[in-house]
Amino acid sequence: MITRLVILTICLLKAATLPAESMDPTKLRSLISKDQIADKLKEVSAQIEQDYNGKDLVIVMVLKGSICLVADLIREVNLPLDLQTVQCSSYGARGTTRGELTVIGADRLQIHNRDVLVVDDIFDSGHTMVALLKALEEQKPRSLKSCVLLYKQDVPKVTEYRPDYVLFDIPNLFVVGYGLDFKERYRGLSDVCVLEAP
Ligand code: IMP
Ligand code: MG
Repeated sequence: MITRLVILTICLLKAATLPAESMDPTKLRSLISKDQIADKLKEVSAQIEQDYNGKDLVIVMVLKGSICLVADLIREVNLPLDLQTVQCSSYGARGTTRGELTVIGADRLQIHNRDVLVVDDIFDSGHTMVALLKALEEQKPRSLKSCVLLYKQDVPKVTEYRPDYVLFDIPNLFVVGYGLDFKERYRGLSDVCVLEAP
């Protein structure tokens, strides 16, 4: 009985420490449904399968935002692909100024002379993608292309480059779900949702 009470108290305390915003569904508006994502994913996967047939495809998954896209993509693309990961950080690595982008894990990649497809969640200013491509290019892959779930329109870009495979173009809105987060929350939503101001 006492053990149960202690467990219950711990659970209640844990729930109380979660910010209320992380559980408030009234602030979420679906922008792209899971069915729309699934339909578009089939189309893009078929294209990727055709483009990489007979090639040595390595998917470089950018953690954590591309988790849902990659999980679905690799089950649609019927090729013996290799899956490797990197993570981007705009701060944290000692010695870098805040805002400078570090590609963590780039040194562990095995992509030399191989056909690389880097997969990320969203192309906003393009800053992240430019840094990623630069880091991967250094290892001299045979080919290097990119795929993103979302391309944000009407945002000033740091590059003219557009990813080779884009599932959806969206307006300049802050979105969460299907891998995308706001302060590490909401990644598990099945739809891509707009996080509205309270
Ligand atoms: P960029 O470097 O400006 O292109 O931004 C790309 C990164 O910013 C993405 O990989 C995301 O992690 C994050 N990001 C940009 N826009 C959004 C958004 O609307 N929702 C969630 N994350 C975003
Ligand atoms: Mg992010």
